[in-house]
Amino acid sequence: MIIRPDRRTLFESSRPGAPGYQLPHADSPKPLTEQALPSQLLRQNKAALPEVSEIEVVRHFTNLSRRNFGVDLGTYPLGSCTMKYNPKVNEDAAELRGFTHLHPTQSDEDAAGTLELYGQLLECLCELTGMDGGTLQPMAGAHGEFVGMKIFRAAFRHRGEEQRTRLLVPDSSHGTNPASAHLAGFEVVTIPSGEDGLLNPSLLDPYLDEKLAGIMLTNPSTLGLFEPQIQEVADKIHGAGGLLYYDGANFNAVMGRARPGDMGFDVVHLNVHKTLSTPHGGGGPGAGPVLVGKELLPYLPLPFIQRTESGWVRDWDRPLSIGKVAQWYGNTGVLIRAYTYVLCMGGEGLKRATDLAVLNANYLLHRLKESYNAPYPAPCKHEFVLNLKGLKDCCGVNATDIAKGLIEYGIHPPTVYFPLIVPECLMLEPTETETKESLDHLVQVMEELRELADRDPQALHELPQSSEVRRVDEVRAARHPVLSHQMRHKRPDKD
Ligand SMILES: Cc1ncc(COP(=O)(O)O)c(C=O)c1O
Repeated sequence: MIIRPDRRTLFESSRPGAPGYQLPHADSPKPLTEQALPSQLLRQNKAALPEVSEIEVVRHFTNLSRRNFGVDLGTYPLGSCTMKYNPKVNEDAAELRGFTHLHPTQSDEDAAGTLELYGQLLECLCELTGMDGGTLQPMAGAHGEFVGMKIFRAAFRHRGEEQRTRLLVPDSSHGTNPASAHLAGFEVVTIPSGEDGLLNPSLLDPYLDEKLAGIMLTNPSTLGLFEPQIQEVADKIHGAGGLLYYDGANFNAVMGRARPGDMGFDVVHLNVHKTLSTPHGGGGPGAGPVLVGKELLPYLPLPFIQRTESGWVRDWDRPLSIGKVAQWYGNTGVLIRAYTYVLCMGGEGLKRATDLAVLNANYLLHRLKESYNAPYPAPCKHEFVLNLKGLKDCCGVNATDIAKGLIEYGIHPPTVYFPLIVPECLMLEPTETETKESLDHLVQVMEELRELADRDPQALHELPQSSEVRRVDEVRAARHPVLSHQMRHKRPDKD
């Protein structure tokens, strides 16, 4: 079988003695490693690394990158998981040697600049959210949720209210909410959304007792709808002794316009990869800072980033803390990018980003509701959902077909089949950086696919035709994942 060179792994391309570098000959009798390291620390056998020339390495990775799709290549309207444009200046800041050459075990004095960045970023996030302090350690939104739930538990334990184990979660929430609450030991009660997609505060009434731990709420919700009765919800929960958790993954819809602290929330997490333009590849590396109100400050994870007269330090002396939640202090590179974004944008810039994200989503919703069923009326916030059940019933075309059809036109599919409460759901989030021209192109393609669904549904089932990977058996891929590469091409140096 002939395998094209650009389809081979580097291991398959390996040939003995084909180095990708040329080092000058050492003039010492023994290699430096042998002089410097005790023999028990030296490798006995050569590492089984591929031996390839520089151009093969460059071609390999360039080819791989061309088989992928990213926000730098085209429109990526992925609702909820938000692929937001990452300004390239963020990379310059994250690559500064003062940050990259710092070792995590260095003293606070040596790490003064990085600690100051943490401190200032925390101050900015508190200002944006209306909270009093926080931690930057959690490595993703879901990790932030889990940390927030541990803080709830620590607070109840300290108050002698450990019977508060019941946590309310609306059915429009992200799946990570009930999962995090459950993992932290809470009993999850799902609160159904009304016809209008909103939370009806009277549905909380049966749970306002001494077992109530609180509520986890995403505002705006994953339907892209702002909960207008949030004040009433907060009053009810607090009135019954519970706490409010704000899933701030959708904060890019209200940043600069509304603050969870002012809405009455006690704990907030932010998804900086959604709100503050940091990279978000394959689930990580990310950051999910957690911010809390005054009463919950003692429970924050260790170390606490503290301003002193001599500068910023790590404070480990917090007896009520839930402890350490991440290696060192989380994903510093991601936090540097978030900080750079906040400083570059400034307060007015962040507010404008929010306004444009909401404007773009409403423009798209307004244009698409002509040809698709939009179950919740405008205005939406940063994202919205379409219900394709009618299309499936009339033409046999489902949400997957439309999503796959978009790939043919150089557009990444929106989120599909989420949230679960909308049948055949497509969830679109254009973000603030898409131009009117790219939104118009998206509308044009969606209309074309809608028309194809009526005229020739079979053609739609067969899209995409020109992408690197066409349709995969998603059930098999989920049930029987193949996580290691099978060599198809024998290495020339092996029998
Ligand atoms: C509303 C909401 N909550 C929580 C999360 C979980 O965040 P992460 O994927 O960073 O764990 C997401 C994902 O983007 C989300 O959209």
